[in-house]
Amino acid sequence: MPTVDVHTHLYPPLYTSLLRSRTTVPYIFPSPTAGDRLVILPGEDTSSPTRGRPIAPSYHSISHKLSFMSRHGIDISVLSLANPWLDWLPPAEAGSVAREVNDDMDATCGQHPGKLFFFATLPLSASVEEIVAETRRVARLKYCRGVILGTSGLGNGLDDARLDGVWQALAEENLVVFLHPHYGLPGEVYGPRAGEYGHVLPLALGFPLETTIAVTRMLLSGVFERFERLQVLLAHSGGTLPFLAGRIESCILHDGHLSKEGKIEGRRKVWDVLRKNIYLDAVIYGEPGLKAAIDVSGSDRLMFGTDHPFFPPLGEDEDEEWLSVKLNSQAVQSALGGDKAHVEAVMGGNAVKILRLS
Ligand code: URA
Ligand code: ZN
Repeated sequence: MPTVDVHTHLYPPLYTSLLRSRTTVPYIFPSPTAGDRLVILPGEDTSSPTRGRPIAPSYHSISHKLSFMSRHGIDISVLSLANPWLDWLPPAEAGSVAREVNDDMDATCGQHPGKLFFFATLPLSASVEEIVAETRRVARLKYCRGVILGTSGLGNGLDDARLDGVWQALAEENLVVFLHPHYGLPGEVYGPRAGEYGHVLPLALGFPLETTIAVTRMLLSGVFERFERLQVLLAHSGGTLPFLAGRIESCILHDGHLSKEGKIEGRRKVWDVLRKNIYLDAVIYGEPGLKAAIDVSGSDRLMFGTDHPFFPPLGEDEDEEWLSVKLNSQAVQSALGGDKAHVEAVMGGNAVKILRLS
């Protein structure tokens, strides 16, 4: 059974050259003292020469991706553009850049047939018609198996009714939506000492809570009642959704406003959506989080990932085994008690089936 990485990013050279031409977030900052720095998160945009994070060749080089894969025993990668995707492009440019990026990804995968597939990127700042047209177009690209999506939607989040045409196209085309965070939480929640704590608060907490809120808004607005076939792969094992599902379900059942509006009758339970519409990646770095993911969605809906090129070893040597990868594969082993068939399914078998990778 192949090992498959469903959460692995790339900034293709055509995207990094766009970032190099910019001086507002997102951009690449050529630091006079600290090399090229990737500045993408709202909180990273300071005046420090070490703002953001170093951008190594592994962020954009496909040969680095392939050697990372062979070093970690990964047979197949499902690539996705990393955050913040094309969310920031002026509307008039988004459609053409999306086509270029998606065609480029497809061509890259075509150079390594069977080894690389990808999640496409949608031009979210363009019109709904353009987004739907790109959805229909990428569904016909040979190596595309879904789309990666942030939480901002058309600007008002994923519970925006204007997205219905997009959900419909994605469901009809059998494209999995890989839902991934970028914006985190408002900076104030991290407090005045946030600067002392590096990236820990936004990445460990801001990202997963952003995903949890985004998917809960989809649940509350009835997306999964209107589009019963829609399939969503949640990054980072669903943020905190598996842990909070019971509380979300109970808050709905006890909400007088929803009851008065008739919004409780006829709705699907959170548990049902988790079991039928949600896939979870296994990027949570520990056994308890992974067990919660398995409990709510089933090990048949869980897929291994690495989040490469993020979380590299802190030392100089990127060619060693990555701790971040080891933590995730160890968690799969221990959460499943070493059950070989289930471990193989999570490490690759599920992805082969769900994403049609054979
Ligand atoms: N940091 C990011 O900005 N994106 C990721 O996917 C992981 C870490
Ligand atoms: Zn990621």
